[in-house]
Amino acid sequence: MEIIDGNQVAATIIAELKAEVATFSGRKPCIALVRVGDDPASISYVKKKQATAAEIGMESRLFLPPVTITQAELCTLIDQLNADDTVDGILVQSPLPKGIEEVAVFRRIAAHKDVDGFHTLNLGKLAQEDETGFVACTPAGIMELLARANVTLAGKHVVVLGRSLIVGKPAALLAVQRKVWANATVTICHSQTANLPALTRQADVLIAAIGKAEFVTADMVKPGVVVIDVGVNRVPDASRKTGYRLTGDVHFPTVSPLCSKITPVPGGVGPMTVAMLMKNTVKAYRQSRAAA
Ligand code: GUN
Repeated sequence: MEIIDGNQVAATIIAELKAEVATFSGRKPCIALVRVGDDPASISYVKKKQATAAEIGMESRLFLPPVTITQAELCTLIDQLNADDTVDGILVQSPLPKGIEEVAVFRRIAAHKDVDGFHTLNLGKLAQEDETGFVACTPAGIMELLARANVTLAGKHVVVLGRSLIVGKPAALLAVQRKVWANATVTICHSQTANLPALTRQADVLIAAIGKAEFVTADMVKPGVVVIDVGVNRVPDASRKTGYRLTGDVHFPTVSPLCSKITPVPGGVGPMTVAMLMKNTVKAYRQSRAAA
């Protein structure tokens, strides 16, 4: 069993981006980070995004509207960022407070600054395999991890657990692409799927993204499977200073001995998501300069 080290792969991508950004003259790539309210997980993710941008030599601008902001006010902020030529990428951290329609907010972001890849146009480009679009960072990071861990997908059965806009759907669309690094047969499973363990047991590659702590157990996988664990769940743990520990969607102690390769939590997919966000922002910067 091999542990796929997301920190190591992310560090390689960050170093590549840093070298590229150093060659840019004048203004550096800039990402606007919008975090509404103070969800603890979101605070930690956005901090990591700021630190990574700084490490690469990119600019980041942080916007912290209160949890009471209305959808219309949030859209006004996005309109200002859309119109600002010194902003290349815009990220509105999910989840948003109740009462704000998340997809409407994602759609408000100009498609050419949508480095999260959640805009209708970018999802359409993903379906059309048009590489001028932006692919959501977590699924893009998963594909990069698999490629750099020498896992070929062609002809394999990839089972995606979860159908979210942020992970499940775009991950499935990527794995099924007509690309040498893809060409998989894909099954998407979700909360309404019948006989779920019978399907997950068929997986050559299992992408677990359902947001339920330690949901995947040993009886749900076949020996030799490659497991990508996207879950980031906080479970109470009195022995920790923070009072919690992070765990994935996979029960690591019993599932990992059956795997050929598996990503850990933390240190697997998480660092890749941030690296791919920066990669998308550099792409947005390059595309806007080419269009100018
Ligand atoms: N929340 C969890 N993952 C993500 C992500 O990739 N982008 C944004 N904006 N919010 C998230």
